[in-house]
Amino acid sequence: MTQTPEATKIYKGLAGVVVDTTRISQVNSDTNSLLYRGYPVQQLADKCSFEQVAYLLWNGELPTVEQLSEFEQQERAGRVLADNVKAAVDLLPVRAHPMDICRTAASVMGANHPLSEDSSREANMRKALDLFAAMPAVVAYDQRRRRGLQAVPARDDLNYSANFLYMTFGEEAAPEVVQAFNVSMILYAEHSFNASTFTARVITSTLADLHSAVTGAIGALKGPLHGGANEAVMHTFEQIVKDAAGADGTGADGSGSGVSGSVVAGSVKSWLDIALADKKKIMGFGHRVYKNGDSRVPTMKAAMDRMVAHYNRPDLGELYSALESAMGEAKNIKPNLDYPAGPTYHLMGFDTQMFTPLFVASRITGWTAHIMEQLEANSLIRPLSLYDGVDEREVP
Ligand code: COA
Repeated sequence: MTQTPEATKIYKGLAGVVVDTTRISQVNSDTNSLLYRGYPVQQLADKCSFEQVAYLLWNGELPTVEQLSEFEQQERAGRVLADNVKAAVDLLPVRAHPMDICRTAASVMGANHPLSEDSSREANMRKALDLFAAMPAVVAYDQRRRRGLQAVPARDDLNYSANFLYMTFGEEAAPEVVQAFNVSMILYAEHSFNASTFTARVITSTLADLHSAVTGAIGALKGPLHGGANEAVMHTFEQIVKDAAGADGTGADGSGSGVSGSVVAGSVKSWLDIALADKKKIMGFGHRVYKNGDSRVPTMKAAMDRMVAHYNRPDLGELYSALESAMGEAKNIKPNLDYPAGPTYHLMGFDTQMFTPLFVASRITGWTAHIMEQLEANSLIRPLSLYDGVDEREVP
């Protein structure tokens, strides 16, 4: 067998490996804090629009009033879907996962873009803004298509979040719903060298174009260990409610209504015991970097609580708390951002499969900021591997 060099240490999953510097965000697991360009994400979620945060991530500073106004105008002008993007989406079956639709749309938008092969900072800024402006139209179009509904044209008198909800549901959302959605977009925007951002940086390091890097990043985000967890949280809740309704004799409607709190608590515990005994990962819990809780959860949980009150769904709040407590008792593992984000999007009316595409719409800002940063001091990302297959042999 191949000899393992004494000094070769394998870092499975690159855990604990620092591969580069970044000025975009700082995740500090000791203090459970997250800074975008130096600003605590909680303060940004409290005081800023998602448009301001996108500008900050790309430019390093919050916009002045004039800069914001120009930026908003550009974003509002880019909300239209090209005919061939619509046609490409229409060709895909509705049984395909909506992340496949996002991935394909990003790829087609890249092929369309007049600056596709130009990777100057100016061209990349333009392409990032165009993707940021158009992706909500893709998500809204696909959500409506799945419900057999006509597309709703964008409204340029509404901000990013209000227009996103308007294009999806065909009516103006209440201000508190727009505000909760804006918070979720800000919290999902950026998180240092997570798997999808690293994917974008790897692709960029080969000097491939921005849309190729974003398309690859969307693929990485789809997985349930990463962005797909927000959908999986809702499936967990649905399963627990189904079990509880069976135990209660009330019948399950998949919404959690009609199931009493005590039945829910008991069902959560028995569901969790079985899942943990089967060595299942409980989606929406745990994190590679944060081991004592995710810095973004309290802000998202507060937004979720406001939605629970707005839609009068205390049962969902109870389910959330029951699983959080049971998981704390059983494993001492805390929720990550996907745990409160999933139920929040459910309450707003999105189909469960659309949750990760919402994450895409937000994270485009972080991915593209990293793509531009990678190009400032590029080095091809190409790690080594230690061969442990069969020794050299002759072909018979
Ligand atoms: N459910 C059950 N057990 C979990 C868990 C979870 N969600 N997350 C971690 N653990 C346990 C592991 O089973 C392992 O236990 P062991 O040491 O007894 O084998 C231990 O905690 C360490 O977990 P590990 O998977 O090695 O940590 P990691 O840093 O590689 O994993 C995640 C991080 C995010 C992949 C993992 O927590 C996970 O799969 N979470 C669920 C998916 C999710 O919510 N992803 C979104 C992340 S923002």
